[in-house]
Amino acid sequence: MTMMQAEQSDITTLHVDAIVNAANRSLLGGGGVDGAIHRAAGPELMEECRSLGGCVTGEAKITRAYRLPASWVIHTVGPVWHGGGHHEAKLLAFCYHNSLELARQKNLLSIAFPAISTGVYGFPPKQAAAIAVNSCRAFQQQYGRPEKIIFACFDAATLSHYQALLNAQAEDEGALPT
Ligand code: APR
Repeated sequence: MTMMQAEQSDITTLHVDAIVNAANRSLLGGGGVDGAIHRAAGPELMEECRSLGGCVTGEAKITRAYRLPASWVIHTVGPVWHGGGHHEAKLLAFCYHNSLELARQKNLLSIAFPAISTGVYGFPPKQAAAIAVNSCRAFQQQYGRPEKIIFACFDAATLSHYQALLNAQAEDEGALPT
């Protein structure tokens, strides 16, 4: 049984197996959710990140979560939006898929995502939410894992995009012949 839900929350407070960080290629911290995660996790997180040697866009790397309630942090680097003609959609989908693949390798059952690339990186939030939901749904359908995916939205506008998509998905599934 797999489930997906969206909520308005600060991802650093969530008691899940892994939270995903919308990082930059250095993996050495920044603003937005990256800054919030590093502040909440404490300096040991930065120490471990320094040993990772960075991360290319679309890829993901995993560390411990230290002072966070989660057990792991999966750092992924979203694409910067340049108008849509630079494979941004595919790279964003890779972020979700590669993060879920790391979680699968560790047999994690619950994972929370922020709205990757929709802040500083400027990706249109509605389109990004569709990529997030579709990528995660495809992964759960293929692997039956993770059991629980939470989209941790920091504001109501972002949450509304995810809720519209999840409601439509529920209707589709409800409409399927039993
Ligand atoms: N919990 C959940 N979501 C959050 C939190 C939080 N504590 N803080 C911010 N967000 C949301 C933002 O509102 C936005 O919807 O995360 C989403 C992603 O925004 P950013 O954090 O700006 O990330 P991104 O657009 O991927 O840009 C990454 O920003 O912080 C730097 O080091 C980071 O260079 C990298 C770039």
